Amino acid sequence: MYFELSEEHKMIREAAREFAQGLKTGVIERDEAALFPYAAVKAMGELGFMGLMVPEAYGGAGMDTLAYVLALEEIAKIDASAAVIMSAHNSLVLWGLNAYGTEAQKQKYLIPLATGEKLGAFALSEPEAGSDASSQHTLAADKGDYYLLNGTKNWITNGGHADVYLVIAQTHPELGHKGINVLIVEKGVPGFTIGPKENKLGIRSSDTHSLLFSDVRVPKENRIGEDGFGFTFAMKTLDGGRIGIAAQALGIAAGAYDLAKSYAKARKTFGKPISSHQAIQFKLADMEVDIEASRLLTYKAAWTKDQGLPYSKEAAVAKLHASEVAMKHSIEAVQIHGGYGYVKEYHVERLMRDAKITQIYEGTSEIQRLVIAREILK
Ligand code: CAA
Repeated sequence: MYFELSEEHKMIREAAREFAQGLKTGVIERDEAALFPYAAVKAMGELGFMGLMVPEAYGGAGMDTLAYVLALEEIAKIDASAAVIMSAHNSLVLWGLNAYGTEAQKQKYLIPLATGEKLGAFALSEPEAGSDASSQHTLAADKGDYYLLNGTKNWITNGGHADVYLVIAQTHPELGHKGINVLIVEKGVPGFTIGPKENKLGIRSSDTHSLLFSDVRVPKENRIGEDGFGFTFAMKTLDGGRIGIAAQALGIAAGAYDLAKSYAKARKTFGKPISSHQAIQFKLADMEVDIEASRLLTYKAAWTKDQGLPYSKEAAVAKLHASEVAMKHSIEAVQIHGGYGYVKEYHVERLMRDAKITQIYEGTSEIQRLVIAREILK
């Protein structure tokens, strides 16, 4: 076993680290006012981060999943909102289009998405289909050469700013999850409206909206895969998405840890830096252990996917561990900062708020345990 990163992986990590330094400017204001990071998203496109795993022939950077998690980790350390925009776009939209799209779909949609010219969103969740993803109420009625789409989607990351949406909908209710399809829907088509932006606890500068479809005509050529492939498509997509969220959670935890370490060395109480008090040393040691374990699990999940091996379990394990660690240790980072941790200027309160969503989206921690149990017991 060899734990050293390749030169290429070190370079992508360095490029992401350098880019992320620039995200520090305005991160507090973007969070406070819930401002979408337009400049950051444009720059991520120019750097190739918005098509990181897409082959160069389709406008991407042609890199692997390990490169992707290394970049996400660095970005999430500084700005977890920018990280989730990148993650939803790459993992939940581009991956599936590249893996299962037709050549025409790739030419029309994948290329402008992978170059960062356009933004993507994945629409699975509904008011009554969150954890129970197969319980789709959005209907895609088969009308011959088009589908008629009706329904509501909830909690859609990039919902307001996306140009291209992958929408999961039921076509044959009598077939249950085997009747579900995935359709490519463009912003601006008649009958498609975007609901108000959610006012969230964390990742406030990423935009989350509901989507409303009222008699939206979607051409048949916009269906990805065979009739009824939508649920399998969604599950496979989420497997990869969970690796992205593990990397985001890892970045949040590592960012909070970096800040806590620096603060502990600089801040003095009782005549000495607080880092020389055992109470603080124990917290920092626990952070080191847990975050390094998250890192190894996340890199292993990425590596497993890159080897072409099954990775549902590895993705769920990494996501479960990294998100729990992000929550636990971002709280500890606030504690180490004392009163300063409670104010925005010290960044850790934002990371603590951002951490919470990693235990919820792309499957709650309870759903990750279900997926892990299913895999180990089958
Ligand atoms: N890969 C391929 N196929 C899979 C699969 C996977 N990972 N997981 C399940 N399937 C298949 C099964 O093999 C089965 O196929 P057959 O019928 O042919 O045998 C079929 O799908 C149904 O499987 P289950 O009976 O296990 O499905 P279920 O209805 O019990 O659901 C679940 C399983 C794991 C709970 C699933 O519903 C799930 O993952 N729920 C969570 C959904 C989720 O993560 N939502 C988040 C929304 S997206 C988001 O948050 C994005 C964002 O904004 C950032």
